[in-house]
Amino acid sequence: MTTPSSEAARRRTFAIISHPDAGKTTLTEKFLLYGGALGAEAGAVKAREGRRSATSDWMELEQQRGISITSAALQFPYRDCVINLLDTPGHRDFSEDTYRVLVAADAAVMVLDAAKGIEPQTLKLFEVCREREIPFLTFINKWDRPGLGALELLDQIEETLVVEPTPVTWPVGISGDFRGVVHQGTGTYTRFERTARGSTMAPELDMDGDAAAEAEGESWEAAAEESELLTELGRVADTKTFLACESTPVFFGSALTNFGVRHLLNGVVDMVPPPAPRVLADGTRRGLDESFSGLVFKVQAGMDKAHRDRIAFVRVCSGKFERGLIATGSRTGRTFSTKYAQTLFGQDRETIDEAWPGDIIGLVNANDLGVGDAITEGASIEFPALPAFAPEHFMTARVKDTSKFKQFRKGIAQLDEEGAVQVLRDPDLGDQAPVLAAVGQLQFEVATHRLENEFGAPVELTQTKFTIARRTDDESAATLRAMPGVDVLSRADGSKLVLFESRYWMDRVIADHPELTIERMVAEGGLN
Ligand code: G4P
Repeated sequence: MTTPSSEAARRRTFAIISHPDAGKTTLTEKFLLYGGALGAEAGAVKAREGRRSATSDWMELEQQRGISITSAALQFPYRDCVINLLDTPGHRDFSEDTYRVLVAADAAVMVLDAAKGIEPQTLKLFEVCREREIPFLTFINKWDRPGLGALELLDQIEETLVVEPTPVTWPVGISGDFRGVVHQGTGTYTRFERTARGSTMAPELDMDGDAAAEAEGESWEAAAEESELLTELGRVADTKTFLACESTPVFFGSALTNFGVRHLLNGVVDMVPPPAPRVLADGTRRGLDESFSGLVFKVQAGMDKAHRDRIAFVRVCSGKFERGLIATGSRTGRTFSTKYAQTLFGQDRETIDEAWPGDIIGLVNANDLGVGDAITEGASIEFPALPAFAPEHFMTARVKDTSKFKQFRKGIAQLDEEGAVQVLRDPDLGDQAPVLAAVGQLQFEVATHRLENEFGAPVELTQTKFTIARRTDDESAATLRAMPGVDVLSRADGSKLVLFESRYWMDRVIADHPELTIERMVAEGGLN
């Protein structure tokens, strides 16, 4: 019998994280090829991106800046599993978005460029993974091109990320002369053949050590020696340490030529944990077979100029989702119909009729939903609050044309609910001049672009004197507000942030007033 838990057992839900250009798009495309979702149509992911940009001003901004802002979810079958792949924004200014996407993922795949190793953005995203305690696999890409040595890359992972790299496959042939990989567990050698631009699956030939030695000569000898050494050193993939984020299984490959993609997908199926009962705010767990519940991890508006709609991305956490069921939002307590449920990948949408734990659904025009909300069929539940990142940039926003104040106010509220930018209000000024707070400057660009184009409310942003924020409470607020170089502003949920002109000044206030509440926020230091 099909039950939520039997369907959950077949699900693998993960996100790819990488520095821009490491090959995330190419790898996604190849996953689809191996999942049978693309047929011979490699290149479709990029083509889709082109189409998206043409139809939406949102994408226009992405294209101008050459960055990817929107997150997409993608589903395809592989072996006897259903794979849910979550896309993450590549730019560091959107690391808060990445954090939220990872809330919906059970694991991540970190893609490294063999010539570059760990790059700044890989490190930032890795730290997000660590913060969320998300186990991750590592794919060392572009082995078809000259790059660093395999052992050197392992050292880099170990030293920079302080995680033990445990190869599942080991490359035969140095980077730039990729012959194939040896599977560390079985000792089997898989030899690859190139296809024209990797438009079809790479033909693979499996052989044992003797046949490999004959076929590859010195390249095999060198690889076999290293492979043996790694095994002796105990560098062997291990589920327990992987799940504890103490080790990362490593795969070598070349997404462009399809080498190693199948091994990686097998790794995902074999090692990524299936959806488990989700922890609730009160510390209990919601069983997979209980009635439908889902977590809103991203709200995105203005994805399609023609529709001007707003989509809440939901990860199914328990039960069976059936399109049309009546759901309750935890924050508002309001019920709504889920008639317009879709799967979404960029601009391509398909109506979805049912979904199981681990699956991602997009609810169109579920206007009351905000990031972090739970939705349920039946009694309401709450998930642990998603922590807000410590903002580092603060700008005062004013509407340019006062006759557009209503639109401005609506736009600001919506951006806040989506988590596109944090909105802070002064008790005296309220919505007249809210302070927009961001982790990265690009968030302001997105906010002004959307306020102007989507809500018809052009805004003027002016720099504030503040550079750092901490959490505070009502008791400390009055004292802090009276100090020079300090201000206390409120979030929509009533929580309070204290802003300081400089870190130096903040440290002094903390030292002089130990009685005041001045708390650090998530992603302080490590990420910022
Ligand atoms: P991203 O999404 O992480 O930003 O990276 P993307 O897949 O767009 O790849 C960035 C560039 O690296 C692309 O080249 C892509 O073809 C190339 N690439 C990806 N995987 C491999 C690989 O395994 N080997 C080699 N040699 N190159 C790889 P481009 O010139 O920017 O684009 P295109 O003209 O090839 O489409």
